[in-house]
Amino acid sequence: MEGEMGEEQGMKGSHGGESGMEGVAAMEACYQGFNPAAYLQYNYTAPRADFHRRDSIVPWKLSCLHKAFTEEGLRGEVLVDVGSGPTLYQVMSACEHFDRIILSDFLEVNRNELLKWLQGGEGSLDWTPYLQHVCELEGRSPTAWREKAERLRSVVTDVLPVDVHQPHPLPPGTLPHSGADCLVSSFCLESVSPDLASFTRALGHLSRLLRRGGHLLLIGALGESFYLGAPGLRIPVVSLEESQVCSSLRVCGYNLLRLSVYHLPPDMKLGVDDVTGVFFAEARKP
Ligand SMILES: C[S@@+](CC[C@H](N)C(=O)[O-])C[C@H]1O[C@@H](n2cnc3c(N)ncnc32)[C@H](O)[C@@H]1O
Repeated sequence: MEGEMGEEQGMKGSHGGESGMEGVAAMEACYQGFNPAAYLQYNYTAPRADFHRRDSIVPWKLSCLHKAFTEEGLRGEVLVDVGSGPTLYQVMSACEHFDRIILSDFLEVNRNELLKWLQGGEGSLDWTPYLQHVCELEGRSPTAWREKAERLRSVVTDVLPVDVHQPHPLPPGTLPHSGADCLVSSFCLESVSPDLASFTRALGHLSRLLRRGGHLLLIGALGESFYLGAPGLRIPVVSLEESQVCSSLRVCGYNLLRLSVYHLPPDMKLGVDDVTGVFFAEARKP
């Protein structure tokens, strides 16, 4: 297909051939120790999720997502969130604008964490302040959070296994033939790829899930070489610069519409990773 990378093109000779596949297998092994509750604690509680601070990471991400879906009018039938992990924040704005949302993750422990909440349980993190904050962004009373929770639970139809290193990352027959209207992926590709070539190749795989004219919202870490997936479990990350994100999107045939960057204030550096910034990219598949 035009604008897509050919079958695994260009990977050999840029760390991507045999050694790339060994790297992917090593990443997979690393993830076997991932602990959803610890990950949520490190990244989704204060100070990184402090709703009274405008410079906290999570409110920044929620505001970018809100603008994309509400102010820029992204809407459609099917949205897929790739590499959801144990988190739901990334679809709290989207759930008002899509008929169907598919969540996905490589690990069963993460899919189970999502299912727990979707089936009415509590899970390892209380998502209420997140729902309240997004209601406020939408100009609604924070007390509307219960309606939003209900909407989110009704719109998510599937929680599927996914592997971004496979040319077709989702189980066959999951999506309409033309593809999804929108893809979201946050902190996944750089956290599961052994090198930049694998990152770009995985981004090309995602493009196969998206219909022509569909939008990709890609959120990720800048300047990060590791993060903790559990106490003592350092998961290696491809350290990205803004320009590399832009060129990988270009190589995969996307049109970059917007790129916003957040720089971490010193007190958000907690030792649970060495991230220096976060990017939010909005791109379109021509
Ligand atoms: C850093 S977490 C991101 C979680 C969440 N999206 C967020 O915004 O916090 C990376 C996620 O990628 C998942 N993952 C690991 N290997 C993967 C693969 N090959 N394909 C897709 N996802 C993978 C992990 O299970 C984990 O949930």
